[in-house]
Amino acid sequence: MKNNFSQRLKTAMDSIRAQTDLKADLAIVIGSGLQSVLDQVTVAHRIHYSDIAEFPVSSAPSHAGELIFGTLAGRDVVAMNGRVHLYEGHSSDDIVLPIYALAQLGAQTVVITNASGGLRADLNIGVPVLIADQLNFTGQHPLAGPNDNELGKRFPDMSRLYDRQLRDMARKVAQDMGDRLASGIYAAIHGPEFETNAERRFLRMAGGDMVGMSSALEAAAARHAGMRVLGFSVITNSATGGPEQQPDSIEEVLENAGIGAPVVEKVIIEMVRRDLL
Ligand code: HPA
Repeated sequence: MKNNFSQRLKTAMDSIRAQTDLKADLAIVIGSGLQSVLDQVTVAHRIHYSDIAEFPVSSAPSHAGELIFGTLAGRDVVAMNGRVHLYEGHSSDDIVLPIYALAQLGAQTVVITNASGGLRADLNIGVPVLIADQLNFTGQHPLAGPNDNELGKRFPDMSRLYDRQLRDMARKVAQDMGDRLASGIYAAIHGPEFETNAERRFLRMAGGDMVGMSSALEAAAARHAGMRVLGFSVITNSATGGPEQQPDSIEEVLENAGIGAPVVEKVIIEMVRRDLL
């Protein structure tokens, strides 16, 4: 974080507070193609990122860029409809600023969602995956720089980044509904280019199960801020880098995200209903 990060965050919070005094102890970050989760939210107030001072504005395809306050199954939630990415040229400070804002809006838990390529052969298009852990290959570290102790600790523990209990409950809830969630390690890369075949094979050897261009910095920042993190990824393309590797396209990624999204949506809502989130 840069020296001015805390001031930027304060300015952003003042700007949000000038527009609403709603709070929520559950936050959801909506990734590519996962907007259908929002259909279940009864909206109380929405603010476009461009109307929040210091908030970064997304240029990514399918990322609307608004903060939504409302209720999901009767529970107060705040959702980020769209996020910003390193590949857009945003700094890591830009990427995590909204995460700290969610924490200051009262969020104790954040559900992070994204679309990813399946590095593992059995992670086919449409498979919903619980993020068990992550590999940050973006080359960026949002916590580097001066640490504001008010925001979080200098050396935060990441051995329990994605909350074990929440994952177990998510898996159980899915099972109860007759759905299956795979589990995998999310390898985050900078983008915007899709990986080469050699890079994908490398990521797989390094322990990655799926690959994507988001979430890792957000999750680390969320833990730094003391939030519990639950992550879901939907597989949109096969990314094994093997001889059968097909060319990638963003159109395919966005379209295919819709295949796995309903299960993720159902699990999130049912977890809220059962008061597990
Ligand atoms: N690579 C990186 N990001 C992605 C992919 C991928 O194959 N699919 C969806 N997001």
